[in-house]
Amino acid sequence: MNILLTGGAGYIGSHTAVALLEAGHHVVIIDNFCNSQRSVVNKIEQITGKKLICIEADVCNTPVVLKALQENQVDAVIHFAGLKAVGESVQNPLAYYANNITGTISLLEAMRTADVNVLVFSSSATVYGDPLYLPIDEKHPTSATSPYGRTKLHIEEMLKDMASSDPTWKIICLRYFNPVGAHDSGLIGEEPQGIPNNLTPYVARVASGILPQLQVFGGNYPTADGTGVRDYIHIMDLAEGHLAALNFVNQHPGWIAVNLGTGSGHSVLEVIHAYEAVVNSKIPFKIVDRRPGDIASCYAKVDSARELLQWVAKRGLSEMCESSWNFQRAK
Ligand code: NAD
Ligand code: UD1
Repeated sequence: MNILLTGGAGYIGSHTAVALLEAGHHVVIIDNFCNSQRSVVNKIEQITGKKLICIEADVCNTPVVLKALQENQVDAVIHFAGLKAVGESVQNPLAYYANNITGTISLLEAMRTADVNVLVFSSSATVYGDPLYLPIDEKHPTSATSPYGRTKLHIEEMLKDMASSDPTWKIICLRYFNPVGAHDSGLIGEEPQGIPNNLTPYVARVASGILPQLQVFGGNYPTADGTGVRDYIHIMDLAEGHLAALNFVNQHPGWIAVNLGTGSGHSVLEVIHAYEAVVNSKIPFKIVDRRPGDIASCYAKVDSARELLQWVAKRGLSEMCESSWNFQRAK
């Protein structure tokens, strides 16, 4: 298939591009590089030994997206492009609505004109808000605690309306839990600009001595060791989940949301200890106050992914930490 990846140079998009190329698909990327490096495209080609087409453009530019769809005879789109920093979205909500919502409307208009009706959308476990029960299944009520989360919710609803209005649409919203790690080559991985907000990139920098110590946000949560619990998923498992989702959605008109996680949670201390085992030294950390807006525990029920997509995550926490460290060292 010919597959368009909006935001395909980013963290999840680049790993998914590798999985798609290796499975024999043709890949076209549209990215404005607002949160990624141009060099990532060459690295994807280096890993796979295959060529892809990369168009530097904003997904809000509908004519450019339309041209990309038509000229490359695109069969399906995976829509990664979006801004994703929760804190930044609280400071500057308009940027998030303008980019994430307007970008999606622009993409949908271009897809409708080009008669491309297969779409995989990058959603997030953030649409479940503060969980009412665990593990979280797709029937769990949705809510949002930040403008970022609200853009994901609004887009999911918009896509549902599209599918109701026209039965030829085939749309799957993938609700990712916590993607971590990197491709085994160490060539691509997660490269946040400035000081990382997320746990594993921060741990990687502490392990390599770039940052002095990790702050563990909260030691008194109602969890086994008092620290926050999340469903960390290896980025290559997540990438392969997109292949499975494409296969499924191609044969299933309508709208559906599916969790992509491992189904089990790990605490912050467990992540630190797994990382220590990989680097064979202590990671300095200090337990500090809870981070505002954080929740105690979040992990997925993954029955839908297993039964519908025939996909399960295979890699464990130590592989996630090993690949993260491998990427950090390669940098
Ligand atoms: P990322 O920032 O690494 O990748 C996003 C890519 O989209 C970047 O390359 C960026 O340059 C590009 N982009 C952004 N706005 C654009 C626009 N208007 N036009 C063209 N390109 C644009 O983020 P990621 O971690 O790869 O996330 C991909 C998607 O998955 C995002 O929609 C994000 O919200 C969602 N998601 C990510 C996580 C996570 O933990 N990484 C979790 C849940 C959901
Ligand atoms: C964050 C985002 C969420 C996004 C997810 C995946 C917020 C509020 N939520 O979730 O929308 O989908 O990333 O990328 O930002 N921690 C520390 N010290 C640190 C960093 C994190 O103790 O320096 C802890 C957190 O309190 C949490 C766990 O590590 O318990 C994971 O944090 P993080 O990686 O930021 O992910 P989430 O908060 O789950």
